[in-house]
Amino acid sequence: MTTLVAMGAQWGDEGKGKLVDWLAPQAQLVVRFHGGNNAGHTLVVDGEQTVLHVVPAGVLDPGTINLIGPGVVVDPFALLAEIDTLEARGVLRDPSRVRVSGRAHVILDWHLALDKAREEAARDRAIGTTGRGIGPAYEDKVTRRGIRVADLLDPERLREAIDRLAEQKNFELVEYYQWEPVDGDALYAKCLEWGRRLEPYIDHTTRILDGALREGKNVLFEGAQGTFLDIDHGTYPYVTSSNCVAGAVCAGAGIGPTRIDRVLGITKAYTTRVGGGPFPTEEEGALGESLRKAGAEFGATTGRPRRCGWLDAVMLREAATVNGFTALAVNKLDVLSGFGELRIATAYRVDGKVMHDFPMTLREIQSAEPVYETLPGWDDDVRECRRFEDLPENARAYVERIETLVGVPVEILSVGPGRDETIARDEPFRPIGR
Ligand code: IMP
Repeated sequence: MTTLVAMGAQWGDEGKGKLVDWLAPQAQLVVRFHGGNNAGHTLVVDGEQTVLHVVPAGVLDPGTINLIGPGVVVDPFALLAEIDTLEARGVLRDPSRVRVSGRAHVILDWHLALDKAREEAARDRAIGTTGRGIGPAYEDKVTRRGIRVADLLDPERLREAIDRLAEQKNFELVEYYQWEPVDGDALYAKCLEWGRRLEPYIDHTTRILDGALREGKNVLFEGAQGTFLDIDHGTYPYVTSSNCVAGAVCAGAGIGPTRIDRVLGITKAYTTRVGGGPFPTEEEGALGESLRKAGAEFGATTGRPRRCGWLDAVMLREAATVNGFTALAVNKLDVLSGFGELRIATAYRVDGKVMHDFPMTLREIQSAEPVYETLPGWDDDVRECRRFEDLPENARAYVERIETLVGVPVEILSVGPGRDETIARDEPFRPIGR
């Protein structure tokens, strides 16, 4: 039995979906534990593209059970749409392969409306959220007013909770933001219908997870977003509203820290960010544009162009610290082919001083100037490479430099979007101690 956490080491979009899909055949359980349908995982299997937002990326592997844990916020409309698509494509035939925790909180119409109203009102201070209602849903959860998935099956409790929320939420929407109110009766009817349709999928996922661990199964925890979007460790307030570090698995899925064996940090071979907020190695000119084009860097959830820049080892070291990475996966190495000289930020210059650690305050991060190291690039297409030794010498040197700068071994490399376009230098699920 091995448990492995796959966690984004940057600002999300590191290619976790592809990695989880590649790792899933080695696991029996794949578990989402935080975030919601703000995530977007693009998978390419046999040339066919699938974008998943809530259902764990393990669903494409018929041998896996996929759990949506208590720490996730669930938009039933989005979840049902995804289930319908997976069913229509013949990927999901048996509801028992997708289990949704009755304890997960539900994203409701006013969460979506408030997310948009607040962003609109914030103007140039907007976070650039995905507009999926994530922040407002987590807000109701921590203020103990939220509606949970199991409540969708309890008409009386649901009615009472909706009536209570309607009063507060519509007050804010109408009086403060001058938005349209949400019709509580229509929402109630919709929730009952969601409950009816979701019932075959609702379960006590904590028990399923515990049972799997007792039976010695391999479990893969699928992180969403990334370390620097974490509510505590990220570039606050330009972050999402959940914890996006490996420790969040314990609370969000319901296991103790002693049961986590390995933590795989996932990074691109360069850096991207969607939405607002600081980005020290961002390239706003032609180079950023070339990276965006070469890497097809457009958001899977919102279609927004992603901001692009060089790899940042200061960030990766911080991510390794707060997540306890046992290994790294470097994705999209192929995108750097033909870029000439490559740069990696090894430190920042802040207020005239060189800092090797990620700064504490937003002001420092915003004013950080990267200190770069230049490495020779490579021109050869690496998409056919399947062993580390097959890579051009400069690509190998680039990867080895990342290992030295971050202090974590690079175990997996992705050289293209396809499942098979992957180089594994070790067995990710090997038993602990090997
Ligand atoms: P929210 O999670 O929709 O509230 O958005 C907050 C911030 O996180 C925004 O900058 C989003 O662009 C970013 N974000 C949320 N989910 C993802 C993701 O899956 N990938 C990349 N960025 C994300």
